[in-house]
Amino acid sequence: PQPKITVIGSINMDLVTESDRRPEAGETILGDRFSMIPGGKGANQAVSAARLGGSVTMIGCVGDDVFGRELTDNLKKEGINTNKIKTLSDKETGIAAITLAEGDNSIIVVPGANYAITEASIQEYEETIAASDAVLLQLEIPMPTVIKAAEVAHHHGVKVILNPAPIQQLPDELIDYADVITPNEHEYEQLMKDYSGDPEALKKKLVVTKGGEGTVFFENGEEVHVPGYKVDVIDTTGAGDSFNGALAVQLAKGESLKASCRYANAVGALAVTKLGAQSGMPTDEEVNKLLNQS
Ligand code: RIB
Ligand code: NA
Repeated sequence: PQPKITVIGSINMDLVTESDRRPEAGETILGDRFSMIPGGKGANQAVSAARLGGSVTMIGCVGDDVFGRELTDNLKKEGINTNKIKTLSDKETGIAAITLAEGDNSIIVVPGANYAITEASIQEYEETIAASDAVLLQLEIPMPTVIKAAEVAHHHGVKVILNPAPIQQLPDELIDYADVITPNEHEYEQLMKDYSGDPEALKKKLVVTKGGEGTVFFENGEEVHVPGYKVDVIDTTGAGDSFNGALAVQLAKGESLKASCRYANAVGALAVTKLGAQSGMPTDEEVNKLLNQS
């Protein structure tokens, strides 16, 4: 059976410019290219999980505008259940203004409708959450909503995977509800600093992503390193999201943490070889090809 994954999170249109360098304050420069690509950490993770064989439901909000319709249609085309995406007439669809320059991205997210996902919506969709194998959460929607979602999922014995991005102070209770937390190296430092509970208990839940170097998790107090793949990097936007979607599918299928990380590392590696977040996410077939080569 297909693992049932519910993603609760953001849906953005990514407005991507490519240029040699970033403009200084007050400066105008000419860029090389502009693309509009579906994004948002929640939607990205949903697409990743769907392409890799998950049966995915997305819970989120868009505005009653062109981007909102386009993004919802796009998720539908990916085979994702979009019945629980609300369209709000008084809010705008979230956007991310992304600059690709000097070999890296910089991003400004304007959440818009994403910030209208309330705790009440979580309550409304409790049945869907309870029927899931895993719930996937990120931090581009209001923190109280994330906490409520984690609480409801935990209460029903559903695996909670939390991608703490973009990083902010996490209340201890959220960490306690989560089964797996997936920070990058920078988010990891902050997480360890902020948590006032037992640091060893927190470490047991962590999968730390290190870009091309792979991932690290902790087993009996020991670091387990799962190596990454060497690829030509085109655009890292959404690579972390592709990893999280993959991890959710693998863990929901009952694969070991190590095997799941190995698979998800391959997914992240393939994602960075293409432009854009959702436009760059691989299928299960492409992943297996890379895994069989190495
Ligand atoms: O993680 C990448 C995503 O972050 C982009 O798609 C952008 O929408 C921002 O939310
Ligand atoms: Na990409």
